Amino acid sequence: MPIFEIDGKLWLLETKHQAYAIGFTEKGFLVNTYWGERLDNIRNYPLPRDHFASDSFDSEFETLPEEFPVLNGMKFVEPCLITRFFDGTRDLELDFEKFELDPQANFLRIYLSDSVYHFRVVLNFRVYEHEDIIEKWIEIENMDGVNDAIVKRIFSGNFCLGGEHDYRIIHTWGKWFNEMNISDDSLIHGKVVLESRRLTTSHHHNPSVIFYPNKICESHGEAYAISLGWSGNWKLVAEKNSLEKTRVTVGINDWDFELVLKPQQTFQTPPIYFSWTDQGIRAISHTFHNFIQSHLLPHPNKPRKVLYNSWEATFFNVNLVEQKKLAEMAAGVGVELFVVDDGWFHGRNSDQAGLGDWWHDAKKFPNGLQPLSDFVHQLGMDFGLWIEPEMVNPDSNLYRLHPDWVLHFDKRKQTLARNQCILNMAIPGVQEYLFEKIASLIEDNDIQFIKWDMNRNVSEPGWDREDGGSSCEIWVRYVEGVYSLWQRLAMAFPRVLWQTCSGGGGRIDTGIFRYADQAWLSDNTDPLKRIFIQEGYSLFYPALTMESWVTESGYENTPLDFRFLVSMSGVLGIGSNLLHWSDTEMKIAKKWIHVYKEHREIIQFGRQYRLISPRESEVSAIAYQNDDCSKGVLFVYNRKMESESQTVIIYPLMLERNKVYQFDGLENRQSGADWMQNGVPLVLSGFSALFVPYNML
Ligand code: DGJ
Repeated sequence: MPIFEIDGKLWLLETKHQAYAIGFTEKGFLVNTYWGERLDNIRNYPLPRDHFASDSFDSEFETLPEEFPVLNGMKFVEPCLITRFFDGTRDLELDFEKFELDPQANFLRIYLSDSVYHFRVVLNFRVYEHEDIIEKWIEIENMDGVNDAIVKRIFSGNFCLGGEHDYRIIHTWGKWFNEMNISDDSLIHGKVVLESRRLTTSHHHNPSVIFYPNKICESHGEAYAISLGWSGNWKLVAEKNSLEKTRVTVGINDWDFELVLKPQQTFQTPPIYFSWTDQGIRAISHTFHNFIQSHLLPHPNKPRKVLYNSWEATFFNVNLVEQKKLAEMAAGVGVELFVVDDGWFHGRNSDQAGLGDWWHDAKKFPNGLQPLSDFVHQLGMDFGLWIEPEMVNPDSNLYRLHPDWVLHFDKRKQTLARNQCILNMAIPGVQEYLFEKIASLIEDNDIQFIKWDMNRNVSEPGWDREDGGSSCEIWVRYVEGVYSLWQRLAMAFPRVLWQTCSGGGGRIDTGIFRYADQAWLSDNTDPLKRIFIQEGYSLFYPALTMESWVTESGYENTPLDFRFLVSMSGVLGIGSNLLHWSDTEMKIAKKWIHVYKEHREIIQFGRQYRLISPRESEVSAIAYQNDDCSKGVLFVYNRKMESESQTVIIYPLMLERNKVYQFDGLENRQSGADWMQNGVPLVLSGFSALFVPYNML
């Protein structure tokens, strides 16, 4: 059983490899006594212990590994919860109330409450035993019958990393057009803060991070991975204090945040998913790839189709005639899903106008979108459409009708970005309008795929609430509004697949993947850059979700084969204007799409191995292999421009040692042990890429 309870005082949460233990000390503090390798005997797990102050300037809280520290006492560590009660009291005193354990659902709830101010905190844990993931989140409840409680901060949780180690943190950072750079930094004495204040997850930092003590590499080393399932403002604080204790708190950002809990009201935080391994970074990636696929994605088992997207081909200049021509060309090379990007809706000829008016532009599509959709379907492809529901241009019918629907402060000027304002997704009328418009589009045009974009960051986050609540709740209620609209649409149209996009990778996290099936990682489609972006993405997010288009972008001499092989390592798409491609280019496209379809099962659903990182060498390699190790594919990229050929040796991983394998293009048939020991010799010319399928004989 993955959750044990011992005398109502200690709870042990075990997955296949990890364990997490929490319990009450004699003094009644709930502490996390252990997070690490699953032990053979439950008696070996550390029991809760009280700590003591080292001097009068510190208290026990400096070292006490509290599971959910709240603001109280002589405490200087980051609290996860800060409240203010009606009489000005800001300390919370929580006592154990009860616990509930549901062994069938692997679900534990521990209730704590403040009996003076009638405030309850419920700690929730769910164990995904086989996936090696534990999920935790918090619920709070104002049980007072009369008074409001003000919540200034409510994080989803806290982690106390064991030992007296110098921990390091691996995370991805970037900006628009340059997302998912991997960094690996030491924690300083003091605090490292990663966050978004931009209303969405952001291009700048990603809320899925790895902490590790000592050393780590792809295949070895201890790692603690934490991922926040939230697509709005978030904050992660990693503190190494002067007593060498490292703590990590994570949750909704408390910057400009305030929540008013009315009598009897509750609030639930977003979840944190976490996992421990001693098998290095790859094990963390595999754990999260598997978990995201099997527990978050709406369509976990549906092979993703080869798609065509019109954006880089025609930008805003989409019309029935040209899109039909493109669709014909796309179908001719084997594309399975044709997606019309920005530019198809009322008044949209540039980024100056139209957002909000979600019906076809009558000049571009005189009889609506249906003739195009029918044409695409007749060609045997699915039909997809781009939308940016959360946005409105001042030059639109919607804005003229509802200027009050946008985020704004009445007496302040409004900052436009890309000529657009942000609709307040917390307003039910906004959600209703968008549901009705998007639902009609899907129904009327038989749509199978929606790309949901979001192209600016926030300004003037005002909200005139009719119920008198705090306008600072906007940071939470906006995201809840997006989730709830998406959920409603997903329920109404269960067969539609969705893509998350925010000017590329501005909204990628384990929260959005409960709604989106795949993601657009970056507007940067230069394959030389994309190799790095895709590597950063792969730390947590699976290839099944990684949409990647072949375009003309970047260095113009990048061979088309190279471009295809970069995009084929995820969900293959084409973004080029096919009307400009030569016969030779069309043949190349046809060939690779055919090859991709033959092998996509392994790429999309297999295990990914980062064999040589592009950060380490100009020749990089990745492999995908199925679970029983009988089949795999290698992608090798040589970014060196010199033209002479060279032999590179690629060492595959996880072959069955005693079975014989053959790699396409090589005559020898050797045992897995032999290939893994001596490597696969491949001849690679300058600035080229190879795709090498292999299989067990
Ligand atoms: C930003 C997206 O990332 C692009 O792919 C494209 O959809 C544009 N928006 C359209 O405005």
